[in-house]
Amino acid sequence: MQLSNAVIEHSNDQADNLRRIISPKPLKIIAISSGKGGVGKTNISINLALSMAKQGKEVMLLDADLGLANIDVLLGLNTEYDLSHVISGERTLEEIIVDGPENIKIIPASSGINKMANLTPAEQVGLINAFSDLGHVVDVLIIDTGAGISDTVTNFCKASQDVIVVVHDEPASITDAYAFIKVMSKKHCVNRFHVLANMAHNVNEGRALFKKLTKATDRFLDVILTFTGTVPYDEKLRKSVQHQKAVVQAFPRSPSALAFKRITRQINSWPEGTMEATGQSTGQLKFFVERLIQSEMIRNDLSQIATVQTAVIPQEAY
Ligand SMILES: Nc1ncnc2c1ncn2[C@@H]1O[C@H](COP(=O)(O)OP(=O)(O)OP(=O)(O)O)[C@@H](O)[C@H]1O
Ligand SMILES: [Mg+2]
Repeated sequence: MQLSNAVIEHSNDQADNLRRIISPKPLKIIAISSGKGGVGKTNISINLALSMAKQGKEVMLLDADLGLANIDVLLGLNTEYDLSHVISGERTLEEIIVDGPENIKIIPASSGINKMANLTPAEQVGLINAFSDLGHVVDVLIIDTGAGISDTVTNFCKASQDVIVVVHDEPASITDAYAFIKVMSKKHCVNRFHVLANMAHNVNEGRALFKKLTKATDRFLDVILTFTGTVPYDEKLRKSVQHQKAVVQAFPRSPSALAFKRITRQINSWPEGTMEATGQSTGQLKFFVERLIQSEMIRNDLSQIATVQTAVIPQEAY
């Protein structure tokens, strides 16, 4: 007996729908880091998140910086609870998530990050499950890491699919970015980085900074750097910080907002959903949290013998 075309089409539709429900969305996990502090990581995280949301993506922002000028402050939001309350079981993950502009979701992590190294097996499972439930509703997870090369920062970068290193035109910024890349590649086997130049004073400055950095990395490290783009120095961005707003919201036609838009389009073209370092063929949040917890547990085990390796950019690289 032959099935009619209508019946075949109907069953194909059903199969498609089922596949959509069962399979998690491909997810991009991007860590924003720098080495040096104060180069604009938090502003970049927020504005990229909002630009992506404006372009139709479901975006989640993880505030993994223990410092002061955090995402909630920059967006004028109230956060009462953080990841530590999820770990202790006082709150669910949904309860600590704060809604930001453009419907972006913000996870305040705060002291919860330090607790990740000491989770009981039950707490581990609880946290992994909490995140895996969210995986179905998110397209992009952006992580605002702290400054420096602490284990927490390196673990977030290691667990992410893409790492954006933010630089600006100051010798310490390039030196610290080099040190960060060196530690990530030599100690953590992360060999692929995107470089974003911030606070540039002219159109050529970003490319020039990228060249300066690649000149050193090509010579001394086995890494691949790609240029993500330049965000110009913009008084409008400063003004929006003062008003606790993101520049892409407050001044959408300003030079920095337009740059964020361009960079977002570029990021959209990056491949999705592969966790290359482990060979995982999925980018689900579940794997991200598993990898993060594993790294933190290993760090805890090794903390007695580990020494923090500092890396100095070789003078001859200049
Ligand atoms: N493109 C830009 N133009 C002008 N000012 C900028 C730009 N980007 C960032 N800034 C300013 O630089 C300062 C630091 O920015 P931000 O807090 O985002 O840096 P950070 O790297 O997150 O710092 P930290 O390492 O302390 O977390 C802020 O006062 C911000 O207003
Ligand atoms: Mg910051």
